[in-house]
Amino acid sequence: MNDAAPMLETFVYCSRAAEGVDDAEVDRIIEWSQRRNVEREITGVLVFGSGVFFQWIEGPPAAVKNLIASLDGDPRHHDIVALDRSAEKRERLYPNWEMERVAADDIRAVLQDALESAEDKSNIAALRRILKHLDLGPLDTLGRS
Ligand SMILES: Cc1cc2nc3c(=O)[nH]c(=O)nc-3n(C[C@H](O)[C@H](O)[C@H](O)COP(=O)(O)O)c2cc1C
Repeated sequence: MNDAAPMLETFVYCSRAAEGVDDAEVDRIIEWSQRRNVEREITGVLVFGSGVFFQWIEGPPAAVKNLIASLDGDPRHHDIVALDRSAEKRERLYPNWEMERVAADDIRAVLQDALESAEDKSNIAALRRILKHLDLGPLDTLGRS
């Protein structure tokens, strides 16, 4: 905690991309997000690989709450699993990234760690579905389970 720092809310989640969401669609999401996030003072990271999203969002609590509502209603992904949501006074982890796309090599390890520490039953079930989906292979298996 750094009392001089602004109150920041953090939301971290993973989800499965909907059928038909490809690299080009993710580029459009990034382009849109960067424009909107500047206005809302949101920063963060979006990882996309093997049909799975992982996103780290940080910003003023009201702005993050609104974005979560938008994400919940966005048909381009489902099985959203909240991995962390917290608010504290601290500096941003990604002050210069209004939503940066990051390579996906490590996503399986990140999700496996999340599963090992998950306690909520529906989170555990959704994480297992996502991991199973990753193990089935590439994008062409999307949406068939
Ligand atoms: C994986 C994923 C990540 C997204 N990230 C952001 C984001 O960081 N910022 C944003 O404004 N919209 C993001 N979106 C789009 C929102 O779900 C929604 O379409 C958009 O916020 C609607 O904007 P509005 O509420 O201003 O109309 C994302 C969508 C997906 C599927």
